[in-house]
Amino acid sequence: MAARPKITVVGAGNVGASVAQYVVEKELGDVVLVDVVEGLPHGKALDLAQAGPVHGYDSRLVGSNGYEETADSDIIVITAGLARKPGMTRDDLLFKNAEIVGNVVDQVTSRSKSAILILVTNPLDAMVQLAWKKSGFSAERVIGMAGVLDSARFRTFIAQELNVSVENVTAFVLGGHGDTMVPLPRYSTVAGIPITDLLAADRIQALVTRTANGGAEIVGLLKSGSAYYAPAASTVEMVEAILKDKHKILPCAAYLDGQYGVKGLYVGVPVKLGRKGVEQIIEIKLTSEEQAAFQKSAGAVRELVEKLKL
Ligand SMILES: NC(=O)c1ccc[n+]([C@@H]2O[C@H](COP(=O)([O-])OP(=O)(O)OC[C@H]3O[C@@H](n4cnc5c(N)ncnc54)[C@H](O)[C@@H]3O)[C@@H](O)[C@H]2O)c1
Repeated sequence: MAARPKITVVGAGNVGASVAQYVVEKELGDVVLVDVVEGLPHGKALDLAQAGPVHGYDSRLVGSNGYEETADSDIIVITAGLARKPGMTRDDLLFKNAEIVGNVVDQVTSRSKSAILILVTNPLDAMVQLAWKKSGFSAERVIGMAGVLDSARFRTFIAQELNVSVENVTAFVLGGHGDTMVPLPRYSTVAGIPITDLLAADRIQALVTRTANGGAEIVGLLKSGSAYYAPAASTVEMVEAILKDKHKILPCAAYLDGQYGVKGLYVGVPVKLGRKGVEQIIEIKLTSEEQAAFQKSAGAVRELVEKLKL
């Protein structure tokens, strides 16, 4: 019988540990948890393993401060990095996390040459571009998680507003992961009905604004640290779509080579995810206003990427 898929999660902090938790709860495979902090990945892996008998999963969990155990992973999720601290500029974060992610990519890709990389570390779009460059992997195998989370936030707010099941709500959010993201109400539906037929324009705008500020709203409440349950759940939806070869259409940061009028840049767009990674970039029709907002968002991503001088 084939061995279980192997999923490495680098960074055993809030997002990474929750990714590991959801992966084993869904029994998607065995997990290797890596972090630089001594004992942290080992402790969390052991703790999660001990939840196995209660939840009924047999996935194996290993914690490590090194990379030997990550060899021949099928999927590698990178959450390692710093969050912005007082006194730090966005650029400080960009360069510090670029150094961390660059090192992690070297370590993991030398041991797992056919893995698929899913980047989570912020600033997301720049980190995924960096990981793609550093890895030498084909663009289909290097993907960024942001759109699933942003869409999940939009779906939550739409469901609450209309008092319907979240399961009835689909939503699309395009563009970079940041203030310039582009939620698309025309393509957001409740049981197939566009929300533009169900909600007044000012209410939709309020939900769009709340979605764009979704991360900041949680940082403001938590005071220290940022969101992690929904980010981890969103990441694991991508892991599952890949491992189960679902051909599932999800918004992800993917490499654009002319699609949507953008060339040579990772930006959030709908893609089809399966066992090979990004199987197709789905181009949807945008109004001139939506296209302008998308271009503005891609421009903001390009500015950050150019600072990295890749
Ligand atoms: N893409 C998204 O939508 C999204 C959503 C949420 C969080 N994030 C980002 O994900 C990252 C992680 O967030 P978090 O809340 O888990 O932070 P966290 O501080 O809880 O965890 C980060 C972990 O990375 C580890 N780490 C640092 N340098 C490392 C290295 N060189 N090798 C291995 N591990 C290393 C730290 O020790 C820490 O345990 C942040 O950059 C955050 O901004 C992105």
